[in-house]
Amino acid sequence: MKLKIAIQKSGRLHEDSLRLLKECGIDISNGGNKLKSTAANFPLEVYFLRDDDIPQYVEDAVADAGIVGENVVYEKKKEVEIMAQLGFGKCRLSIAVDKNETFSKQGLNGKKIATSYPVILQDYLDKNKISAEIHEISGSVEIAPGIGLADAICDLVSSGSTLFTNGLKEAETILESQSVLIRNKTLDQEKVRLLEKLLFRIRAVRKAKNNKYILLNAPNNKLNEIIGLLPGMKSPTVLPLAESGWSSVHSVIDENDFWDIIEQLKDAGAQGILVVPIEKMII
Ligand code: PRP
Ligand code: ZN
Repeated sequence: MKLKIAIQKSGRLHEDSLRLLKECGIDISNGGNKLKSTAANFPLEVYFLRDDDIPQYVEDAVADAGIVGENVVYEKKKEVEIMAQLGFGKCRLSIAVDKNETFSKQGLNGKKIATSYPVILQDYLDKNKISAEIHEISGSVEIAPGIGLADAICDLVSSGSTLFTNGLKEAETILESQSVLIRNKTLDQEKVRLLEKLLFRIRAVRKAKNNKYILLNAPNNKLNEIIGLLPGMKSPTVLPLAESGWSSVHSVIDENDFWDIIEQLKDAGAQGILVVPIEKMII
């Protein structure tokens, strides 16, 4: 029995989805234009599909699980369960207007908005009691205002360069999105077990990414102060150096605290600070 997982065929999530599986130790010979690929060392079959179709395939159990943007999950409103956020493919669904326009929410009343996300947009308009016309188009939404098809657009923004090159500006964010792992709601026990196994690996990889392994040399009379700065997994490892009066301290720190802590450690007398990536982290 194999777990069937659907990932994007091409586009912003494709590469990162494959990379995540690879970092989980799952070896997939990337099949180029192939529809599916089988992992060599994990009971997994990968289906390459259009991201917009993935929720439907997962609801129908054609795929047991999928990697897709939250934006697509919320738009399609299919019966699937979100298991975990995956931390890549971060973007926002935003309303954008001509860069010279002064935007107000109420100013959208009576306007035409082009989007590939009619469901999410309609929810937003209803919540804000705005009555606007939604013009659904499936691609190149950003050119709609320029050719007179719409007054505004509602589209995904990541770097913002698509808006910029089309003379538009982001006016209002209506949804923050990133990639998520979704599953069919009625998988049998064995599939659930495989999916849990995969999720366990994903969590270990994600955890490792947010953390760094740090090694440093500390004068023994400053050890307590330095250890106090390091919130390790349990407590830091301290080993004597060959040179008397000095110790080597090993610990794990959160990527986000990284620069703050480095400064404080140096001020406290730490030397030879090494910060190295962690590949997997199981706690
Ligand atoms: C989105 C969106 C824009 C672009 C914005 O398309 O439709 O074209 O990305 O990104 P930027 O702000 O970095 O320029 P996407 O690649 O997700 O393709 P899809 O909507 O067809 O799946
Ligand atoms: Zn798409």
